[in-house]
Amino acid sequence: MTTDDPPNDAHSPTTSVDEASADDASAVSNGQAADEDAQTAASNTASTAVQPKIKIEDLNFWYEDNHALQGITMGIQPEQVTALIGPSGCGKSTLLRCLNRMNELIQGTTLEGTIRVDGQDIYAPNTDPVMVRRRVGMVFQKPNPFPKTIYKNVAWGAEINGYTGDIDALVERSLRQAALWDEVKDQLHSSAYNLSGGQQQRLCIARTLAVEPDVLLMDEPASALDPIATSKVEETITELKEKYTIVIVTHNMQQASRISDETAFLYMGRLIEMNPTDQLFTRPEKDRTEAYVTGRFG
Ligand SMILES: Nc1ncnc2c1ncn2[C@@H]1O[C@H](COP(=O)(O)OP(=O)(O)OP(=O)(O)O)[C@@H](O)[C@H]1O
Ligand SMILES: [Mg+2]
Repeated sequence: MTTDDPPNDAHSPTTSVDEASADDASAVSNGQAADEDAQTAASNTASTAVQPKIKIEDLNFWYEDNHALQGITMGIQPEQVTALIGPSGCGKSTLLRCLNRMNELIQGTTLEGTIRVDGQDIYAPNTDPVMVRRRVGMVFQKPNPFPKTIYKNVAWGAEINGYTGDIDALVERSLRQAALWDEVKDQLHSSAYNLSGGQQQRLCIARTLAVEPDVLLMDEPASALDPIATSKVEETITELKEKYTIVIVTHNMQQASRISDETAFLYMGRLIEMNPTDQLFTRPEKDRTEAYVTGRFG
């Protein structure tokens, strides 16, 4: 979709439901039956009919008087990787941080608009920001393990949340999901600082997974890593999308095309274009997107 389109993009359920019900004359007679039939039909027609996991509507965000995000409307599909690209300062990290209410930890900020995760307004007065951050986990650009053992890094979230299950099993499962277990299983009780940068980043992914989120936000998670560590992190992301909804910021166009299903191009606080990744890179709708992805600016 583009900023010129109505809020419901081509991937929204509304579009698909309308198309599906048009083929089903009996669905028109009874409102509820029509809805149900249309929903069934929609879910049978196309994978694009899936409800977005995250629905952002007319999001505006300010740092003091800097209007950093301007009227962003987009849907993020479940169990897919969505890449955010755009030149430095366009608002990618700001948008990412809005998705788990981390921006409100910064003084002097204002947010307008709605963000729903599984239909729940994450900024509603009765929504607990701590719960939001548990459900929507964040991995940062620079690996930031705690000065503790590998085991303690992963177990930390579970321990402060009073997890009553088997912590050993949780640590192993999280490290396996982050594709790090085999490399560290014999040194779980040594310092996380003994790991390489790429291993530390996968440890941070494991730590985030250990609090059992369903959305993972990643802000340039591989930009500080060498090509081998980068490809490990990319493989990990590709495996994780089977269970998680992933939103990743990257400046690396090859990386976006390798790992993401959809790509959103931001420019000066606005969403210029969001489309399936192969389309956005090979047949962009907007001249500005084309200029950026072909390296003519940015
Ligand atoms: N903590 C902050 N306080 C005040 N202004 C900020 C803060 N973080 C970002 N900004 C401003 O918001 C705008 C968007 O910044 P943001 O960090 O979201 O961009 P970005 O696309 O992630 O850039 P980069 O690719 O360089 O990381 C910029 O004008 C920036 O100066
Ligand atoms: Mg950034």
